[in-house]
Amino acid sequence: PTAPVLTIDGPSGSGKGTISRIVAQRLGWRYLDSGALYRAVGVAAGWADLDLDDAGALVRCTFDTVVGFREGESGDLRVLVNGHDATDELRTETAGAAASAIAAIPEVRAALKDRQRAFRQLPGLVADGRDMGTVIFPDAGHKVFLTASADERAERRYKQLKDKGVSVTLDGLLREILARDARDASRAVAPLRPADDAVRIDTTGLGIDGVVALVLDVVSGPR
Ligand code: C5P
Repeated sequence: PTAPVLTIDGPSGSGKGTISRIVAQRLGWRYLDSGALYRAVGVAAGWADLDLDDAGALVRCTFDTVVGFREGESGDLRVLVNGHDATDELRTETAGAAASAIAAIPEVRAALKDRQRAFRQLPGLVADGRDMGTVIFPDAGHKVFLTASADERAERRYKQLKDKGVSVTLDGLLREILARDARDASRAVAPLRPADDAVRIDTTGLGIDGVVALVLDVVSGPR
């Protein structure tokens, strides 16, 4: 039998990552952080000092970059890039911006397609990203599209980064988020948009528990 899939797509800061991890845990399903794959290529490209305008080099870099996921000591998700734990570097805005530039290259997206589909295993998969419901798992049985106002998303990111001791300004973050949204939504390949059959959830003003409950309702169907 093919494993069930719940896709959770949405813009940066919509809470996808947090919500997806919790929902996967509740369901006992695997979790795919597809953004981490694009970020990993961005970080590897940085290590190799590649030019973000050199599409050919970035495509080769995608094929050469080995990404591994494993559970850390505190139950958190660690991401290994070519064997190095790059979890913290992956979360930086630099890595996010590089990922977003790289993600606009069709050959890069194609190269990562099968790697993402390989995560579909029993008992099920929660897949988090931008095109999970539209391109990677169009036949998923459950699809969610999370949104939140840009202001709220910037604030969430600000808190996350501040907790980690990263110094950023709210204003700078808001500008970066809006720029990344525009690039992700306007690119020719797999632009950010809800699948026609996705359930849209606006998380502005909602707490994590509230959103988790709404998403679990999508999986269990109307009661
Ligand atoms: O979700 P996250 O912020 O980690 O994603 C980083 C970048 O990777 C996004 O801005 C987007 O450009 C790209 N991405 C994508 N498709 C996905 C996941 C991420 O294009 N499925």
